[in-house]
Amino acid sequence: MTTPLDALPLDTLRRRSSTKWATHPHDVLPLFVAETDFALAEPIERTLAEALRIGDTGYVPPKTRYPEAFAGFADRHWGWQVDPARVRTTCDVMMGVAELIRATAQPGEKVVITSPVYPPFFDVHDESRTQAVDVPLLRDKEGWSLDLENIERAFAEGAVAILLCNPHNPTGTAHSRETLAELARIADRHGAVVISDEIHAPLAMPGASFTPFLTASSEAEQVGVSVQSASKAFNLAGLKCAHLVTASDRMTRIVQDIPMEVEWRTGLFGIQAGIAAFEEGDAWLDALVARLASNQTLLVDLLAEHVPGAVYEPGDAGFLAWVDLNLLGWGDAPAQRILDEARVALVPGLSFGQAGAGFARINYGTGPEILTEAIERIGRLVG
Ligand SMILES: Cc1ncc(COP(=O)(O)O)c(C=O)c1O
Repeated sequence: MTTPLDALPLDTLRRRSSTKWATHPHDVLPLFVAETDFALAEPIERTLAEALRIGDTGYVPPKTRYPEAFAGFADRHWGWQVDPARVRTTCDVMMGVAELIRATAQPGEKVVITSPVYPPFFDVHDESRTQAVDVPLLRDKEGWSLDLENIERAFAEGAVAILLCNPHNPTGTAHSRETLAELARIADRHGAVVISDEIHAPLAMPGASFTPFLTASSEAEQVGVSVQSASKAFNLAGLKCAHLVTASDRMTRIVQDIPMEVEWRTGLFGIQAGIAAFEEGDAWLDALVARLASNQTLLVDLLAEHVPGAVYEPGDAGFLAWVDLNLLGWGDAPAQRILDEARVALVPGLSFGQAGAGFARINYGTGPEILTEAIERIGRLVG
């Protein structure tokens, strides 16, 4: 049994300068942006400390161990055989996504997104001058799933790509192999490309499993590209490194044609930290997942006790909870009231699309004490 990772104490977290801890005044508990509240994995801290000590702060060299390090990680965690020659780095996941859209869709063309979804999936089209077409997720007793029928309709009506979120932010859904294979079949039939954002992949909960899109079927290899990073699991967003993975000559050519400048923008610290994470981070990651699984259960209990009426189905992966607060009668934007009156910062559901009216996203990538205090504060608003 792995011991769950401890979070840093509140007074230490308040000294951080990143978005999560530097946006709101100190009386607000921040459970919004997707950063986590743990000390770095020791191999990453050691690697970065050594780089700082010797002033190793220049550019990324043409060849690093990063692709091989990721291939080893993908094999150990998902049985995915990645060819390191088909891995290309960039500055972050959303830059990778933006460049892939640019490479596969002309200005004005349509790209499917599946709301409720990570807000930049709506905004990234400003960069590529493409148009987002929303095919909302379906929701039933089993949870959330892709609406394959309407995705196929969107392709038939001219959408040239889909921006998949797997595991899905905010619901935490890890799409099944069958669903992904069917999506690949549909995309292949209509000549569409699947851009699969897999940033939350290392964070599957015990009992759940993540399927890399490119392993779903031979068609998936032909139509898909995966965007990966160590940044979400290991809390490295500020170090600016992500990578694109392909598994067929056709898709590799598309990625190879992306300008060299895009790769050049990769951060050296991100490469160094990514190598340390992928090669030496497994034990830390196990402890993190144990903490997240424990927090997920705690959140279910806390909501039941303090915010009855909140509807929350724990997701398969990640540290984000998609909570339906509609039954509380707090209107379409409950996160605003929660910020103003409970002094807890959540992400408003409407940021994820119209399907998010009355919802809020809670980040439980923290310690149980902070999570408990936050939900108790929200509970005091319940009449
Ligand atoms: C699904 C998803 N994609 C992309 C990102 C952002 O990644 P990056 O900072 O590497 O662009 C996030 C951040 O939370 C995310 O949840």
